Amino acid sequence: MQKADWANTFFSDNPPEFIREVDDSPKFRKFCPDDDQWMLGQLVDKTRPIDGDKLQVFWLRSNGRRKYVAKVFTDYTPEQAGQQLWRLRIPKSQSRIDSAVHEFDRFSREARAYSHIERFCPSQEQIYFPRFHGVLTDLERSRFSSGYVHQRAIVLEAVKPDLRSRRILAADIPLKSDFFQHILLSPFEHEWYCSLLCDRLRRLAALHQIGITHADVKDCHFRLPGDFYDTVLYDFSESYTFSSKWPFRVNAGKPRPLKIISEGERKCVELQIKTRAMARDLHSYFVESMPEHIVEDALWQPLDEEKGLLEFIILKVRTRPDYFSMPSMNSVFPFLESIRPETDLTWHIRRGRLLNCYESVWASFKAKDHSSSITFHGEPDFETLGPDPRYYLLCLVPQGWNMLSLTTADSDSNDVGLYEKLRQACLLFVSSRLPGNIVKQQDFFAKGE
Ligand SMILES: Nc1ncnc2c1ncn2[C@@H]1O[C@H](COP(=O)(O)OP(=O)(O)OP(=O)(O)O)[C@@H](O)[C@H]1O
Ligand SMILES: [Mg+2]
Repeated sequence: MQKADWANTFFSDNPPEFIREVDDSPKFRKFCPDDDQWMLGQLVDKTRPIDGDKLQVFWLRSNGRRKYVAKVFTDYTPEQAGQQLWRLRIPKSQSRIDSAVHEFDRFSREARAYSHIERFCPSQEQIYFPRFHGVLTDLERSRFSSGYVHQRAIVLEAVKPDLRSRRILAADIPLKSDFFQHILLSPFEHEWYCSLLCDRLRRLAALHQIGITHADVKDCHFRLPGDFYDTVLYDFSESYTFSSKWPFRVNAGKPRPLKIISEGERKCVELQIKTRAMARDLHSYFVESMPEHIVEDALWQPLDEEKGLLEFIILKVRTRPDYFSMPSMNSVFPFLESIRPETDLTWHIRRGRLLNCYESVWASFKAKDHSSSITFHGEPDFETLGPDPRYYLLCLVPQGWNMLSLTTADSDSNDVGLYEKLRQACLLFVSSRLPGNIVKQQDFFAKGE
């Protein structure tokens, strides 16, 4: 009876199918590294002083590499749960205290959210969050190198403030153009903030879709400290994950419908991006690395002449994108920035402005033995994973080159020559081990001749 009540309240009388499979007290997947010789190293964020009474995030070193992080949690006792109930003026009973431990323990909240994402979020959307590698519940003193010791941790992908951790998200339908009304922005900045907003809302919507509310939607949970660009949405220690039991609280308030909460969380994201747009932080970021008049020129100058000079752009992407289509401006921009020519400081801004003059072709290749393994989206082996890690290539082809029809091997015979050029360009690029490359039209068409 209660199950139906809460599900109907939370999902506004339209509970999704998947909730039948929700397990109210799931066992969290254990962290199982390939090699047992792992250790917790230094704090990930050294600007925060270490505090034994608080949760802390450490690098988890395996084979000498910072491959994971461990978010280590302090214990949450029945006494603390009792105090929390008292603060909420909820009468105490043993069963309520047990439920409160389950509900308010930050470790359980975070583990529940990641387990739920792993189980119910469509695989292409799981890239919006850090990869979850399981939990540790019996951490021994010998694993720590800092004197800080607690037993429970959540092991996550080590997100780094660079291209290795950035995701490419597919371009979305543009927002209403009046969203940043009254904020004086160049058309490029306008487009960039709209795209940032769409990408963040997409990450959030993927959570709401499966009955999770984040409850701590802040700008700093979409990007790492000190990083200008986004990586993933993280920090689920305040989150609520749907379960059939009527909760005490959801998002620090009375239990209420998801519809209302998700609207509130979306509004938070909108406000955060509006605040950034008003501060023109993208402009300030550019001005850190080049003179302001050069930035202004790149943002405002007409680019009609440059449209005829567009190059072929190829980018290496480590994580599968959510969809194999044109990338969003916000997600592809750091990749463009990473390959801008030293002699042309604003190349990435101008190409960002002309992104709508490009078409995308996705390819993939195996990290080892890449010479024979380039496959294009649409070809049979494109997504079959062998034992090696697979990387993706995002090829941006100027629309004028009319190559989009060439991405399948059975293109008609006139096109096969051009299609082979694309494959050659990919092969050449892969063996160069660069993060990306820019190929002028004459060089692209000259290759192999
Ligand atoms: N997966 C990750 N990869 C790299 N760094 C991370 C990761 N998760 C967290 N961090 C680092 O640890 C810091 C704190 O992480 P997080 O926001 O999850 O916890 P918190 O804010 O300390 O805790 P809480 O809000 O749960 O009390 C982040 O600002 C970031 O520097
Ligand atoms: Mg946080």
